[in-house]
Amino acid sequence: MSAQHPARTATARHYLMCRPTYFTVDYRINPWMDPAKPVDTALAVLQWERLRELHRSLGHTVELIEPIPGLPDMVYAANGATVHDGRVLGARFRHPERAAEGPAYEQWFRDAGHAVVKTAEYVNEGEGDYLVVGDRVLAGTGFRTEPAAHAEAQELFGVPVTGLTLVDPRFYHLDTALAVLGDEIMYFPGAFSPASRRVLRELYPDAIVADEAEALVFGLNAVCDGRHVILPQAATTLAAKLAARGYEPIGIDLSELLKGGGSVKCCTLEIRHASAGGPR
Ligand code: ARG
Repeated sequence: MSAQHPARTATARHYLMCRPTYFTVDYRINPWMDPAKPVDTALAVLQWERLRELHRSLGHTVELIEPIPGLPDMVYAANGATVHDGRVLGARFRHPERAAEGPAYEQWFRDAGHAVVKTAEYVNEGEGDYLVVGDRVLAGTGFRTEPAAHAEAQELFGVPVTGLTLVDPRFYHLDTALAVLGDEIMYFPGAFSPASRRVLRELYPDAIVADEAEALVFGLNAVCDGRHVILPQAATTLAAKLAARGYEPIGIDLSELLKGGGSVKCCTLEIRHASAGGPR
């Protein structure tokens, strides 16, 4: 750990994941997906099990939603909803191939007893495009989530929602180009419009800046508990940058899930409970 940075503290998290039982790539809705390339579903399950075990070994709670046949992308649980301070905003998918996932995840939250669950009016792909950083939500648009959805999120959560425009189709969701590290972030500037880059520089002058190679191995599709940062094992230079800032990077191989255009963060939806006093 670097001397200039304080020890980072982990806090216990609550995650929702979906086993990739029916994972395959038989349609193409992002540039990473190639239906001609074979997918090893058994290996995907094994890699995913290791991620779940890792979350658990770090002291986090992992709940599971039952996978549904015919919804191969359901493994990317992060897209299923956004939860802030106990309030759940359902997802509404851009592509018809994933449309049925929205209601399935919403039902899971209702069945789990969450009191505030809003069915989305506008297209939004959950934590794929909404990332909670402290008391702010960073919100992607450009490929999936529509700008009108950002105002809908702000009305539900009651915290500032800052819109960011993605411009590179390889980084079609915000969580492919930006990761939350407690109150800090790391991101790849090249994925954003010049104006959005300015906004990010202004809000997070101390952010870890990733280069294109780090972003291309999905190094930014990472999950942080305040101290540990789980990220694809190929992102070694990014791991070194994290270590230099006092974080504990943990690399993992999710090569099969990368074939669908997702990695660690995509597979991990965070359930953020209501702060003391319950939801406002
Ligand atoms: N095949 C999925 C899609 O294109 C991948 C989603 C990855 N999830 C994420 N949070 N970026 O929708």
